[in-house]
Amino acid sequence: MKMSRRVEHLAPYLFVEITKKIAEKKAKGEDVVSFGIGDPDIPTPPHIIDRLCQAAQDPANHRYPETEGLPELRQAIAEWYKRRFDVSLDANKEVLPLIGAKEGIAHIALCFIDPGDTALVPDPAYPVYSAGTRFAGGRPYYLPLVEENSFLPDLDAIPDYILRRTKLLWINYPNNPTGAVADLDFFNKVVKFAQQHNLAVCHDGPYSEVAFDGYQPVSFMQADGAKEIGVEFHSLSKSYNMTGWRIGMVVGNAVMVDALKRVKSNLDSGIPQAIQYAAIEALTSSQECIQEHNNIYQRRRDLVIEMLHNIGLEAQTPKAGLYIWAKVPKGYTSVGFATDLLDKVGVVVTPGVGYGKNGEGYVRLSLTIPDAGLVKGLSRLATWRSSKSGLKIE
Ligand SMILES: Cc1ncc(COP(=O)(O)O)c(C=O)c1O
Repeated sequence: MKMSRRVEHLAPYLFVEITKKIAEKKAKGEDVVSFGIGDPDIPTPPHIIDRLCQAAQDPANHRYPETEGLPELRQAIAEWYKRRFDVSLDANKEVLPLIGAKEGIAHIALCFIDPGDTALVPDPAYPVYSAGTRFAGGRPYYLPLVEENSFLPDLDAIPDYILRRTKLLWINYPNNPTGAVADLDFFNKVVKFAQQHNLAVCHDGPYSEVAFDGYQPVSFMQADGAKEIGVEFHSLSKSYNMTGWRIGMVVGNAVMVDALKRVKSNLDSGIPQAIQYAAIEALTSSQECIQEHNNIYQRRRDLVIEMLHNIGLEAQTPKAGLYIWAKVPKGYTSVGFATDLLDKVGVVVTPGVGYGKNGEGYVRLSLTIPDAGLVKGLSRLATWRSSKSGLKIE
């Protein structure tokens, strides 16, 4: 059997390796506390599940769905954008439901990237931007996200020769993994830059609803002219704890949305309709659950930050998102530190380098861990620290 070069050169997906390591430890009877994957532990709110169960009973929802999703869902997405961001969208042309944002993010590369083309991809970043680019035969050009620049890409530093062969620019705020946020000034700058260099922009914004201390993230679609050059990926995964149901959306530029619809109509057969009805319920009913979840995450965020600071690790307090981006102690690599925590105290954190070379020196801790586990994990971090009495952390 001869596999494609694409598959032969494929590195295992970051979390596959971490999940494997946890399973090995658990098989040995060891208790592991995981701050790894960003998968909300809080269940999907009951009103959404009720609608899902009701829709699942209806034989009309047992058949193939349409690629473009139910018109009622597209309308619900457009109305949610209007209410939440004051952005107007044509539900027929500027909205496309997805089988989770990840699916659309991976597939949109096929709409833009021919072999040899370049996509601008942040580093560190959610790994699917570069995976999609590579699957399409393209090359990612990495834009460093560094603390000195508030984890925003320095667009002016991209060489002209790169821009000449670039078709796509990826951005993501609130950011995974750094926890950084972007304001409208930055998004306006991105639009101008894209217009100047004839780039299509993909903004990935699945964490816009997970925010703290009254902060409200903005949408890329609020930027002047955003719809002329770009789209925004979004998801119900993190807003409504619906990771397991697989539903998201892309909105914005009609030509880009249509291109993705054409690709998808050849590759998948849409989102199960019962799940689409659950999504309509989530988007159109009371949004109180979002604040309730954010209160929980905010409390966890504060506990984690306090413990990290107590043990001498540097980490900024994020305004949004599900992650803490913490600096590793002096003398450790991000993998070395993560491995030491797992081996010595059974705590899983994600090595920053897994998100790109500029993630070296950091680990990511996810706040999607039930309170009991969180407290146990934090006390284990303290145990780890006290076992290293000679260690100079900073
Ligand atoms: C930045 C980012 N984009 C997209 C996704 C995927 O979202 P979905 O569950 O809708 O596929 C994630 C999931 O962790 C993410 O962190």
